[in-house]
Amino acid sequence: MKRYCINLLPVMALLLLGLSCTSPEEIVPELDDPIEEDDNVEVAIPLKELFKDYFPIGAAVTPQQANLGTPHGQALREHFSSITAENVMKPDALQRVKGQYTWGNADQLVKFAKDNGMLVRGHCLTWHAQSPDWMFYDENGELLSKEVALAQLEEHITAVVSRYKGDVYAWDVVNEAMFDWDPEGVIEYREDSPWYQMIGETYIDSAFVYAHRADPDAKLFYNDYNSIFSWKRHKIYNMVKRLKDNGIPIHGIGLQGHWNVNTSESDIRTTLDLFRTLDVEIQITELDVPVYLSGDEPGAVEYNSTFSFRQKAAYSMIFQVLLDYSDLITNVTFWGIGDDHTWLDRPDRKAFPFLFDEDLKPKPVYFEVQKLVQNQ
Ligand code: GLA
Repeated sequence: MKRYCINLLPVMALLLLGLSCTSPEEIVPELDDPIEEDDNVEVAIPLKELFKDYFPIGAAVTPQQANLGTPHGQALREHFSSITAENVMKPDALQRVKGQYTWGNADQLVKFAKDNGMLVRGHCLTWHAQSPDWMFYDENGELLSKEVALAQLEEHITAVVSRYKGDVYAWDVVNEAMFDWDPEGVIEYREDSPWYQMIGETYIDSAFVYAHRADPDAKLFYNDYNSIFSWKRHKIYNMVKRLKDNGIPIHGIGLQGHWNVNTSESDIRTTLDLFRTLDVEIQITELDVPVYLSGDEPGAVEYNSTFSFRQKAAYSMIFQVLLDYSDLITNVTFWGIGDDHTWLDRPDRKAFPFLFDEDLKPKPVYFEVQKLVQNQ
């Protein structure tokens, strides 16, 4: 039995062939059903063409992938109009040793993007993780004073943003500053962050000011995960409102988009409605949708019909929402390209979170999304 519809074939032909074209809502396949190879697949429209009337489509990449001599480089050029450095623009990659900048990998990504007419999202300038110890601690392991910490942050942000002025169009200036796992919504900021401990929440304000001074034309974003949950979206809202009320140059909120096949549509819509009132842009900065219903579900290393069914429903819902809010959303970036490379994999549990498979071929979910866009 066919598990997904083939857009180009008339239903009559399918019926004559004894096949049924069944919507995902009507069939829940068995967990172990293999994905059937289709020898009459629809032609994939490159993602950047598909979404050209709505928003740029991006991918997070490594320097190795940003090379036209690799399948990844070819896929990037064909499908994506924006890239983000997966790791090589983070503080510990650019300035692991104080005062010694290592630009090579980041420069290569930026050159690849320019050569291929792509945007670059810069990720990220200020974060409690993947930052060198010297940004936080002195030689005795004590937290730095507020003055020293801010001076070092200003120096780092100024150097990085100035280098890529005009090339990086949007920066994640501060990443993950708000506390979560707090359904009561009592603790606003991530108080275990060394940035918070050294400076208090105004390190966020300062980071945006430094970035804006270095490149007044860059779009400056606050970026976080779990942003669609009620207890966290209100913290983000309050923080961004505070910045805007104080005249701090912030232009957008990045929703990381590490979502799930059971992510709630109303959580996304409610969050977008709330953030719209802040008069900021929204970018989906790190989209990936693993195939499991929970962290406890037993893993698999082969993609199967259940996974495909779940992902088609989830990605259709997600992209319908993003299209509905495309006046507000100015970039949608996946946190990777294909299922061969993702931070979500575990040894016995592959996550398969993207529209492209491990060989970078479009999956059935790709065509489901394509159909959705074409039917708008
Ligand atoms: C967060 C960060 C990203 C990346 C992912 C997972 O979302 O913002 O830079 O590290 O986690 O890898």
